[in-house]
Amino acid sequence: MIAILDFGSQYSELIARRIRETNVYSEVLSYRTSAEQLRNLSPKGIILSGGPNSVYDEGAPQCDPQIWHLGIPILGVCYGMQLMVQQLGGKVERAKRGEYGKASLYIDDPTDLLTNVEDGSTMWMSHGDSCTMLPEGFEILAHTENTPRAAIAHHEKKLFGVQFHPEVVHSVGGIALIRNFVYHICECEPTWTTEVFVEESIREIRAKVGDKRVLLALSGGVDSSTLAFLLHRAIGDRLTCMFIDQGFMRKGEPERLMQIFNEQFHIPVEYVNARDRFLAQLQGITDPEEKRRRIGHEFIKVFEEESQRLGPFDYLAQGTLYPDVIESADSNVDPKTGERIAVKIKSHHNVGGLPKNLRFKLIEPLRKLFKDEVRNVARAIGLPEEIVRRHPFPGPGLAIRIIGEVTAERLNILRDADYIVRDEISKHDMYHDFWQAFAVLLPIRSVGVMGDKRTYAHPVVLRLITSEDGMTADWARVPYDLLETISNRIVNEVKGVNRVVYDITSKPPGTIEWE
Ligand code: XMP
Repeated sequence: MIAILDFGSQYSELIARRIRETNVYSEVLSYRTSAEQLRNLSPKGIILSGGPNSVYDEGAPQCDPQIWHLGIPILGVCYGMQLMVQQLGGKVERAKRGEYGKASLYIDDPTDLLTNVEDGSTMWMSHGDSCTMLPEGFEILAHTENTPRAAIAHHEKKLFGVQFHPEVVHSVGGIALIRNFVYHICECEPTWTTEVFVEESIREIRAKVGDKRVLLALSGGVDSSTLAFLLHRAIGDRLTCMFIDQGFMRKGEPERLMQIFNEQFHIPVEYVNARDRFLAQLQGITDPEEKRRRIGHEFIKVFEEESQRLGPFDYLAQGTLYPDVIESADSNVDPKTGERIAVKIKSHHNVGGLPKNLRFKLIEPLRKLFKDEVRNVARAIGLPEEIVRRHPFPGPGLAIRIIGEVTAERLNILRDADYIVRDEISKHDMYHDFWQAFAVLLPIRSVGVMGDKRTYAHPVVLRLITSEDGMTADWARVPYDLLETISNRIVNEVKGVNRVVYDITSKPPGTIEWE
């Protein structure tokens, strides 16, 4: 395992993912993790992340100075390197010229850390401080035009520092450097593979669950579906999957989900038809937050009732992923135990967002995984590609894509319009070009003309976006003929819609969903 101490860098998670891509397990821990705690964890290497501060600022985050004496190889990245230099007696100062963006790295010592990194490689820089004097025993491994000490090492103590960010994709030799650190310096074995994860998880689930029963709320998304496959393989019919149909899914999706699980893979799913209950809850409600609140609340009620009917259960399986449990610099870590005090709670409603006071013990087999790792596991255990690569879909579903009051009629209109969007992007072979692609129904009406007749009907908004992670997004530059086909079909085929508009707002300032 490689431990990453997070000093508040936007790239700490990315470092962890890069390490895992070398098939070595890595975890992001708070910078406050003590040397003692690290010794107990016994990582094969430690990486100190970058961070927004200057090491000489008052109150700048410091690591436990004992970590340099653990005998574990350490790589400091940017702020992490500056901290290493400062704590070990060197000097860090504001640079005459900061370095932001690409820089060529000239190699002075092509051994250990920089083996196979080409002289002149492009590396990504982002720093306003520079180290102006190295601590005793350190040597320069590489420089750039503006930074004479861009990579440094204390070979004997296996302490390394780089001023650039090897983890970002723009750093051309970055992966080679990370592999050198992980394999040659830390001597890690490439044992973090999907196959090993699946085998070990199955073993752990069996050991934990024994002959008890587990309940899983299935949503049809990749996380809960992967959980269902994994748990079913581990404990067979001691798993009960429950699918609550709120009535806000896309056209044909509940039926398809039941078909895939029940018929294709013989994983029995309890179908709960709660459509009328949810719709009744939303009658007359137009405020987006109130809609979300009511849907979340009703979901918990249905879930409790149905779990009592089907139970008793000992465990509740949740699709918690690693980004939800990361001990990042700004999370609250008990300095004595290293345990998180405050657990980050998603404000979004989804099946993973059940309250903690339900009477179940939790089982969270995916809590070590990043989203892309979940997809790998999903494929490895045989989930069909249509679930593995399905676009994200919000827990409250179409209800937050109908602006204003949700009615059965409006749901039908939106479902039909949304189906045409999906159908056309699939026909154009563009489904995977988007992060999400959907329709939004507006409660207003506008005037149109069809077959010499005046119409007065709703507009539909097309939201086709690209994104890496849903945190930021851009509207997709799609071919006009695709927009034209979608628009024509919606206006002609969906009764109640006479106008189609395209949303050209990025996130920020817009959000992806309209509510
Ligand atoms: P926004 O609208 O905040 O959406 O830009 C970001 C991403 O989150 C999805 N989303 C949700 N997912 N439960 C979920 O599981 C929710 O309540 C929810 N609301 C938004 C949205 O589809 C987008 O991918």
